[in-house]
Amino acid sequence: MMNTSITLILISLILLATPLVHSIDQDPIAIQQWFTNLPTMTPKLTHLHFYLHDLVNGSNPTVFRVAQSNITSTSPTAFGFIAMADDLLTTGPEPNSTVMGRAQGIYGSACLDESDLLMTMNLVFTGADYNGSTLSLLGRNAVFHTYREMPIVGGSGVFRMARGVATAKSYDFNLTSGNAVVEYNVMVQHYD
Ligand SMILES: *[C@@H]1O[C@H](CO)[C@@H](O)[C@H](O)[C@H]1NC(C)=O
Ligand SMILES: *[C@@H]1O[C@H](CO)[C@@H](O)[C@H](O)[C@H]1NC(C)=O
Ligand SMILES: *[C@@H]1O[C@H](CO)[C@@H](O)[C@H](O)[C@H]1NC(C)=O
Ligand SMILES: *[C@@H]1O[C@H](CO)[C@@H](O)[C@H](O)[C@H]1NC(C)=O
Ligand SMILES: *[C@@H]1O[C@H](CO)[C@@H](O)[C@H](O)[C@H]1NC(C)=O
Repeated sequence: MMNTSITLILISLILLATPLVHSIDQDPIAIQQWFTNLPTMTPKLTHLHFYLHDLVNGSNPTVFRVAQSNITSTSPTAFGFIAMADDLLTTGPEPNSTVMGRAQGIYGSACLDESDLLMTMNLVFTGADYNGSTLSLLGRNAVFHTYREMPIVGGSGVFRMARGVATAKSYDFNLTSGNAVVEYNVMVQHYD
């Protein structure tokens, strides 16, 4: 009797001490099982809202140009430049607001007569929500348009088999420095 109570108390303590995180099993057998269960899973819709800080200039840049064409410097759209980014994603427009993750990837000027970027980015979530999961974005970013719609072509972790749409809207764009804060709304359909 006494032993049973002690055991129950110990089990409760262990359960309480275990962080209540939704961790995703990523070993190959678990992924096989996940696909087996897929037909019975219901699609889920998630809305994400965050601000991306694209810092090309200043003391802590997060974007670096890695290549350019021989017309980039004379092209009105800087055609042919390619940059690698590891941009901060935060819940608010201020750089010191809560961190949600990073946008890691490559973008480049892909249009000769308009400022259109080809975006190939992984949205890597590291905040309390979606920690360890990613979304892959691939699309056209016409930077001077109010809304730029870009496809979400996949994901990992809680976002496995995700499909969706990201809309980017400039929040703050310093034409002198090239630094930008961009508001993102992402709608994704996935299975969780
Ligand atoms: C750029 O390079 C191409 C060959 O790769 C050449 O034909 C062209 O003249 C060059 N343009 C400039 C502006 O240097
Ligand atoms: C964030 O930075 C602003 C100034 O840009 C400052 O007023 C505010 O106190 C900072 N907030 C935190 C939580 O550090
Ligand atoms: C996210 O996950 C990593 C690795 O599992 C962990 O070290 C980190 O503390 C987690 N972050 C949050 C905000 O939960
Ligand atoms: C824009 O960037 C320039 C050059 O870095 C800087 O001097 C200026 O203060 C910035 N403007 C604003 C409004 O932050
Ligand atoms: C960084 O800012 C300087 C002026 O402050 C500007 O000449 C340069 O083009 C900027 N770099 C980029 C990559 O925009």
